[in-house]
Amino acid sequence: MSDSARRDALALQTPLCELLGCRYPVVQTAMGWVAGPELVAATSNAGGFGFLAGATIAADQIEADILKVKQLNGDKPFGLNFHMFQPNAQQLLDLAIKHQLRAVSYGRGPDKKTIARLRNAGIHCMPTVGALKHAQKAIEMGANIITIQGGEGGGHTGSVPTTVLLPQVVDAVKVPVVAAGGFYDGRGLVAALAFGAQGIAMGTRFLMTSDSGVAAATLQRYVEVKEADRIRISYLIDGMPQRMIDNEYLAMLEKASPFKRLRIALSSAMQWKAQTGMTMGHVARVLWQAFREDPAALAQTVMAANAPVLLQRSMVEGKPAEGVMSSGQVAALIGELQSCEQVLQGIVAQALERLEVLGNLRGNPT
Ligand SMILES: Cc1cc2nc3c(=O)[nH]c(=O)nc-3n(C[C@H](O)[C@H](O)[C@H](O)COP(=O)(O)O)c2cc1C
Repeated sequence: MSDSARRDALALQTPLCELLGCRYPVVQTAMGWVAGPELVAATSNAGGFGFLAGATIAADQIEADILKVKQLNGDKPFGLNFHMFQPNAQQLLDLAIKHQLRAVSYGRGPDKKTIARLRNAGIHCMPTVGALKHAQKAIEMGANIITIQGGEGGGHTGSVPTTVLLPQVVDAVKVPVVAAGGFYDGRGLVAALAFGAQGIAMGTRFLMTSDSGVAAATLQRYVEVKEADRIRISYLIDGMPQRMIDNEYLAMLEKASPFKRLRIALSSAMQWKAQTGMTMGHVARVLWQAFREDPAALAQTVMAANAPVLLQRSMVEGKPAEGVMSSGQVAALIGELQSCEQVLQGIVAQALERLEVLGNLRGNPT
């Protein structure tokens, strides 16, 4: 690293950089079918911290992908994302410990004992939350870094915008907070730091890079979106609020009868069961647990496989009209595909420029 790059990095460093072992306080979040070894390694090589999307990587592939990140990034720290309901969740946690990963991220987290096991192994537990009460609950369970995601963010998301959720959580908790939902440039980083966050986390900005490996036809759709209100929330994919780019598939789902939607959900479930090697016993246990916890949420569990299966169609198979294009509203502001290196350097340069302007404002007599 040159002397000037070292100075730039120091100017933006927060305690989060020390915790995660990265140069800049910028996190690449996990994205199903998108955050593979290449993207994670490109992020860490550019000075950020990346999460491997463990929920959509085949069980017999996950360890090889962990080793691939290490090989591509020269053993820099990175993290692993998992969902508690995936059949191989335990395997991912064991691998995170075995390979001494720096952090894990998750939504609905594991129990206290499991989190304590991870923390004792030196792994930071960094859930993503969309509401203050979820942040408080996650900390009570043992999480030591919180990522808040405002409603403008991509994928599953809440309804509270980043500008409201971030100060609310920063004021209420004592652990480092990372801001997600709507970030893509250096102005956003400075704003998040001003709110009291220790860094930003971005999904959509990293998806829209030349390092993401997303199918070209699909990336083209992301670049073409110019109106943020075309990137909207629907409950139709899996019963939970999910933000995505408006497309032909969503229009079809909106017109479909409940019977057709059930057929689609069952077909996704069968495909996902075959892909993950899920046993009928596991399916039955998941359905029974969902029914016991909240019978009204049973439909969500039946529809759960729609999200990974329809995302795979867009991201991997390159059929954007036949699948789901999860996205934050910020896609409307991103007009070109840069590399992770260019994205990080652009963010750092703009953040330093904004800080200088703000410093000058303070010095100016009014
Ligand atoms: C295509 C896509 C897939 C996603 N998949 C996951 C996932 O598998 N696990 C997860 O925790 N979050 C997932 N998310 C949410 C992101 O990790 C992140 O929290 C969100 O994109 C942040 O908002 P932004 O898009 O405005 O940066 C996904 C988001 C997108 C856009």
